[in-house]
Amino acid sequence: MATSKAPGTVVEPRVVTRRDQLEEALGDVAGRHGPTSRTAFVPTMGALHAGHGALLDEARRYGEPVVVSIFVNPTQFGPAEDLSRYPRTLAADLELCGRHGVDLVFAPDVDVVYPDGPPQVGVDPGPGGQILEGVSRPGHFYGVLTVVAKLFELIRPGVAVFGEKDYQQLVLVRRMVGDLCMPVEVVGAPTVRENDGLALSSRNRYLAPDERRAAVVLSVALRAGVAAGPQGPDAVLAAAADVLAGEPMAALDYLALRDVDLGQAPATGRARLLVAAKVGGTRLIDNAAVTLGEAGAQ
Ligand code: PAF
Repeated sequence: MATSKAPGTVVEPRVVTRRDQLEEALGDVAGRHGPTSRTAFVPTMGALHAGHGALLDEARRYGEPVVVSIFVNPTQFGPAEDLSRYPRTLAADLELCGRHGVDLVFAPDVDVVYPDGPPQVGVDPGPGGQILEGVSRPGHFYGVLTVVAKLFELIRPGVAVFGEKDYQQLVLVRRMVGDLCMPVEVVGAPTVRENDGLALSSRNRYLAPDERRAAVVLSVALRAGVAAGPQGPDAVLAAAADVLAGEPMAALDYLALRDVDLGQAPATGRARLLVAAKVGGTRLIDNAAVTLGEAGAQ
């Protein structure tokens, strides 16, 4: 693990937008951290918040220099999704990167990442991309994995950090790296939450005040499910569903209990509870680790 820069150190990140600049800057920043440096990478779509800040701090525990990409990737948005209104806040993003000691920001335009237009060859997410988010967002994980693979290729990190908030994305990136022998360690970082439990998300800014109040139901439901873990899978789902049913402003998309790799849930042991719901016009997702059946197993 690398820890040569104290958390809180303010460093003006270098910002590049083109591939040739990136290549040169990667050499420069790696050179500053010495011959044994290991680049730590955090891919983002910008609109950075404290949750991203935590990813950046985590990244620096694993390697330096810390490189961030800010790119709103069109290929992971469906035709009816929020690509055009996705928040773009580059100046504030760079400020946050500076506060978290980021060395280099890669902020390309679409034609830099996709110079030949939409990719004809990409990464098939396999069966894990067809469930949960993949049902409501067909093609989403093809777009995510394809851009992550391209960014890995361009940045060649030793370690890359992804938030557990997008748990299915984290599982699929791990699977891609394993299946395609990519030489990068994938680290998952815990979800950062507001005081009332709402998971931080760039999309929370779309919520009107009454929707923001209702949105907390996702995390309340997850907590109820986690607390029912000792009683087993059915009790977990029933407890979480009960909470969700009590919030008329949340239109449930799915509530699912899976094993930690998103296969079928075990009867006992470690599992993941995942939820997606629309609150007003905003689709929110959240998830939590659950231990099943401890009471029965002891
Ligand atoms: O999680 C995100 O912000 C995006 O899906 C990612 C990983 C940056 C790919 O565009």
